[in-house]
Amino acid sequence: MTRFLTGIKPTSGQLHIGNYFGSIKQMIDFAKTNPDAEMFLFLANMHSLTQIHASQDIKDFSMNALKLYIACLGEQIDQFYIYNSSEIPAHAQLNWVLSCITNMGFMERMHAYKDAINKGNEKNISVGTFNYPILMAADILLYDADVVPVGKDQKQHVEYARDIAQKFNKTFGESFILPKPYINQEVATVPGIDGQKMSKSYNNYIGLLDDDKTLLKRVKQIATDTKTVEESKNPDECNVYNITKLFLTAEENEALRNKYLAGGLSYKYAKDYLYEKLLAFITPIRERVKNISDEEVMKILARGKAKASELAEKKIEDVLKKTGLSL
Ligand code: ADP
Ligand code: TRP
Repeated sequence: MTRFLTGIKPTSGQLHIGNYFGSIKQMIDFAKTNPDAEMFLFLANMHSLTQIHASQDIKDFSMNALKLYIACLGEQIDQFYIYNSSEIPAHAQLNWVLSCITNMGFMERMHAYKDAINKGNEKNISVGTFNYPILMAADILLYDADVVPVGKDQKQHVEYARDIAQKFNKTFGESFILPKPYINQEVATVPGIDGQKMSKSYNNYIGLLDDDKTLLKRVKQIATDTKTVEESKNPDECNVYNITKLFLTAEENEALRNKYLAGGLSYKYAKDYLYEKLLAFITPIRERVKNISDEEVMKILARGKAKASELAEKKIEDVLKKTGLSL
């Protein structure tokens, strides 16, 4: 039996199509092709605390992220365990144990920390931000996850989880299986409306809860070059195409690529087409979210917590024994 695991940190009022295609959709596709697999999808809200210190925001963002998860999974929800990692103390316990066998030099190479340094103000970066790959490794290793589907930006962190698992196993005896990152190359980095990686922090995203007006505005804002309608265009260099292709069947993709290459395609046409595809994709998700109550979310979380706690408690007991911490 294979176990797939991933988490999303709630750091804004919603999730975006980069999160969907880079992470959630991989989980949905794996669930379909592996009906016996266990799917662990968790709320990484302890990670949000590295960035957000307004308690009501963390609560609201978490509830929205969970409702979006649930809406996106639809009928497949029964194959998933959805839980809140902050309700399971073993995450914090394992985080500490792993931090004691991780060298500073290693952590300084982690790109999330390097990015924070590059933004300046080194002394004000929280210790939590520096440590977050260690907490992420704990999130993964506690559950003997085989495969961790993530976007490209998280690959280094999953590789660190593998490295630290190996180090622990060598030091204290076999305890953890080595997780594999899974990155779907076609959607490894979904571009935002400005062409950079789509991200909550860059405000360049198309959100799964955006209303029609916002969607239209976002589509209109997508940067394009100054080629005339008649000119032939390389679709791969066009940001509108690179977002649109996420929603296309193979035939639709082929037809759109041909239109770009043949000349005669206006960016207005390309944007109208994208808007139409976005509406068709996002409207049902938005509608489903509206019908999910907070109570339903809490019920789903309770089921996930029961399963996750059982595994996490067993694992941390073993770790405490192996390290000599439990007498
Ligand atoms: P954000 O960068 O918007 O804060 P998160 O860090 O919360 O997003 O990412 C949650 C998951 O979604 C991770 O697996 C991440 O790799 C994936 N992801 C985020 N943005 C993108 C993107 N633009 N393209 C592909 N995957 C993405
Ligand atoms: N760090 C991830 C992000 O920023 C979220 C995350 C936390 C995660 N723990 C995880 C993803 C474990 C996969 C597995 O998106």
